[in-house]
Amino acid sequence: MLEQIETVGRLRAARSGDPGPHVRTGLWGLVPTLGALHQGHAELIRTARAECGVVVVSIFVNPLQFDKPDDLARYPRTIESDLALCGDLGVDIVFTPSQQEIYPKPPECTVDVGRLGDHLCGPFRPGHFRGVATVVLKLLQLVQPHRAYFGEKDAQQLAIVRRLVSDFDVPVAVVGVPTVREADGLAMSSRNRHLAAGDRASAACLYQALLEARRAIAAGERDAAAIRKRAALKVPQTDGLKLEYLEIVDPATLQPVSTVTGAVLIGGAIVVGSTRLIDNLLWTF
Ligand code: PAF
Repeated sequence: MLEQIETVGRLRAARSGDPGPHVRTGLWGLVPTLGALHQGHAELIRTARAECGVVVVSIFVNPLQFDKPDDLARYPRTIESDLALCGDLGVDIVFTPSQQEIYPKPPECTVDVGRLGDHLCGPFRPGHFRGVATVVLKLLQLVQPHRAYFGEKDAQQLAIVRRLVSDFDVPVAVVGVPTVREADGLAMSSRNRHLAAGDRASAACLYQALLEARRAIAAGERDAAAIRKRAALKVPQTDGLKLEYLEIVDPATLQPVSTVTGAVLIGGAIVVGSTRLIDNLLWTF
């Protein structure tokens, strides 16, 4: 039976063994989210459900990670359907704190993600990964899960969380869950619901660009600039569609490579109409 918890006090009590309405045993798994849950989140939750005795989904629209106030304001909030999905998937606890609960005081201390924020989305979203790393660290401290689940769609975020956990000795296993895609390859995202009907079809061109980059590497191309140039041709130069970046980086350090000699992360972002979408593919030899 799902319990919705809104306060840090009740969450801590549940974690330290006060059963409240339910007795809970086994490994604790955390799926941190911003809400507006979709099939990508459902896959994270199913994976957590299969591996853990107690599954916690946090739903918190973290103001610290939104670099643009209008992006924060228009982020979809769908708590009723989110709770229904969590109930259907057998989630034990949905943690839905208020801003006041998570940030009773404006934080002075935040997590600097160093060079990991210098490329891919970093330059286009100043402060975003600092906000993500800070709230993830807080959620890990509050829930103290044995395992925490993140989508591979947000590959930069996942790499940063892995490094955060390693650098701060957080006793949690970080689990990356493969991206869930629509039939045409568009990665599932809460932002897809902002796409105007006319923009939906062109949104899949980012995935096509990433596939083209992977094809180029598979065919023997090793020069990153040449791969990027070939891939970028898959994004049509039309009004209302912009390739923000397409980068080829080391999957752990997130630093760009000039020659592909080992595993690489191919990441990109496009802006379709007023909606920004990101995606990535991993290449391994
Ligand atoms: O990926 C997200 O939904 C968010 O960045 C996260 C990890 C929940 C932190 O707010």
